[in-house]
Amino acid sequence: MAIILGIESSCDDTSAAIIKDGVLLSNIIANQSVHEFYGGVIPELASRAHQQNIVPVVSMAIKAAGIEKNEISAIAFTRGPGLMGSLLVGVSFAKGLAQALNIPLIDVNHLQGHILAHFLDEKDKKNPHPKFPFLCLLVSGGHTQLVVVKDYINFEIIGATIDDAAGEAFDKCAKVIGLPYPGGPVVDKLAKEGNMNAFTFAQPVAGGLNYSFSGLKTSFLYFLRDRIAENHNFIEENKADLCASLQNTIIRILIKNLVKASEQTEIKEVAISGGVSANSGLRNAVEAEGKRRNWSVYLPPLKFTTDNAAMIAITGYFKYLNSLTCGYDTVPMTRI
Ligand code: KG4
Ligand code: ZN
Repeated sequence: MAIILGIESSCDDTSAAIIKDGVLLSNIIANQSVHEFYGGVIPELASRAHQQNIVPVVSMAIKAAGIEKNEISAIAFTRGPGLMGSLLVGVSFAKGLAQALNIPLIDVNHLQGHILAHFLDEKDKKNPHPKFPFLCLLVSGGHTQLVVVKDYINFEIIGATIDDAAGEAFDKCAKVIGLPYPGGPVVDKLAKEGNMNAFTFAQPVAGGLNYSFSGLKTSFLYFLRDRIAENHNFIEENKADLCASLQNTIIRILIKNLVKASEQTEIKEVAISGGVSANSGLRNAVEAEGKRRNWSVYLPPLKFTTDNAAMIAITGYFKYLNSLTCGYDTVPMTRI
């Protein structure tokens, strides 16, 4: 029997989860609303909020799982990538508790966690698991990657963004039209009432299977500047169409290389993961493309798309089964 406590603190969510023999027993997430006021994550405030949240969040996860802390077999924590101050809180807490309980520590790559979220099963719900090797489009606030997932441990990145991540493109463009942070979910909601072909924005290419989003952001900005010069109320009068067109552009960019990657690798097991994989338009588009191309498509349950400790715990579980523990002297890494 293996019981893994997972801890996630890479950005602005403090989260703890318990996995017992591969089944999720609890997943507690404390979001940090303090950043909304600033329109983005303020690292200093994020680490302070983690300090406040970490003890109650871990206690709640243990209690909600119905276990005692001395039953935990190992503690898995996010080592990176992420914000240094935020990571330090989770890493230090994990070390202290692991030492007190005299159990092993397991370092987890946050991005591997997003991908392995596809293997999370719940007490009353078994989710579909992709078969190896599968292709995963990992789209979050900090990363955009195309990854060949060979097994639970081995991955190959075959494409990545050369500038902004897809989530950043959503958030930065949303900010320009006055939407709150994070903009992605708000754009998704407003896009449902808009016309996705109303406006056209640049679809930058980066070569090979790589992505680029900074040109889209610039094109969006210049487009608005010109329209506002003609009509001061342009944004207010066209908000839904702007969101739908922006979302459609981001999706088209993402899908193009996903299709190319599937053709090049001849892999038809296709998954998406990360915060942007919650986007309803992207989910529909990947599903539709999958039908056309005979893919088996895997869309993660919405609650496992954005940052959570369940994905860290399940990754820790697979590493534990492979004896991949780490030393108590392991340090966080802002980039991996
Ligand atoms: O994976 P995540 O929680 O954190 C990182 O590891 O970065 O991703 C957060 C990102 C944000 O950029 C947020 O705007 C985006 O995911 N996001 C969405 C949606 N829900 C979250 N983007 C588009 N549509 C959504 N429904
Ligand atoms: Zn993330």
